[in-house]
Amino acid sequence: MSEPSPTHQAAAAAADIARLTGVAEHDIAVTLGSGWKTAVEHLGTTVADIPAAEVTGFRASAVQGHAGTLRSLVTEDGTRVLVLGARTHFYEGHGVAATVHGVRTAAAAGVKTMILTNGAGALDPDRIPGTAALITDHINLTAVSPVTGARFIDLTDLYSSRLRTLAHAVAPELGEAVYVQLTGPHYETPAEVRMLRGLGGDLVGMSTALEAIAAREAGLEVLGLSLITNLGAGLQSGALSHQEVLEAGKSAEATLGPLLARVIRAIAADS
Ligand code: HPA
Repeated sequence: MSEPSPTHQAAAAAADIARLTGVAEHDIAVTLGSGWKTAVEHLGTTVADIPAAEVTGFRASAVQGHAGTLRSLVTEDGTRVLVLGARTHFYEGHGVAATVHGVRTAAAAGVKTMILTNGAGALDPDRIPGTAALITDHINLTAVSPVTGARFIDLTDLYSSRLRTLAHAVAPELGEAVYVQLTGPHYETPAEVRMLRGLGGDLVGMSTALEAIAAREAGLEVLGLSLITNLGAGLQSGALSHQEVLEAGKSAEATLGPLLARVIRAIAADS
């Protein structure tokens, strides 16, 4: 038997979510990256929290600091939020379709707005670790695309300027950044950090760009948010470690949850 297509997998996953949560459709989906996972506590009332492994095509997260559940929430204004705590990274080796399965599932679950969050290293030494930035654009250096076949998807306004305006209105402290996705899982060399800066990047990480492309292909409007967890290799003294990335997330936790809640409220109020 041949593998089910990504679209069928996403439809099956959305059916699982509807059955396991009792919620037929969701409005907004949020993928939680490094440092963002406790934000979920601020976003609304939990309706159901499902281990990722119970939903078609999902696997428990391989990375410490990434929650392994899919959670259905309802906000005070009645917005249905699907929180994807189980992200599959491209570096896990399961392929690009597995990497973007969460986004495609969100679309199949009725979602119209995809919020992608991540932890990222700064390519610009003037950025401040522990602060968050809106992604304005990306540079995909993974050398792959989630789109197959002759589908020529426009990415001009991939990180929706409409959603960025809404987010800025309620979180004026947010910076703006061009995000570069590499495959990882190794961090960059200092020479690569200098090169990426020269290419026009502000932040570097190992997620988000592929998901954003798949989200756009699926017709979703995308908002991207990065927590700056560290300065890139060579811009800070000493080595980089995943521990440091997690610790930056921990110290920013208190602000990220309320920030995300404000942004979601603003998006819901405008739709
Ligand atoms: N490089 C790549 N990915 C990252 C970094 C980094 O410096 N920090 C957090 N994710």
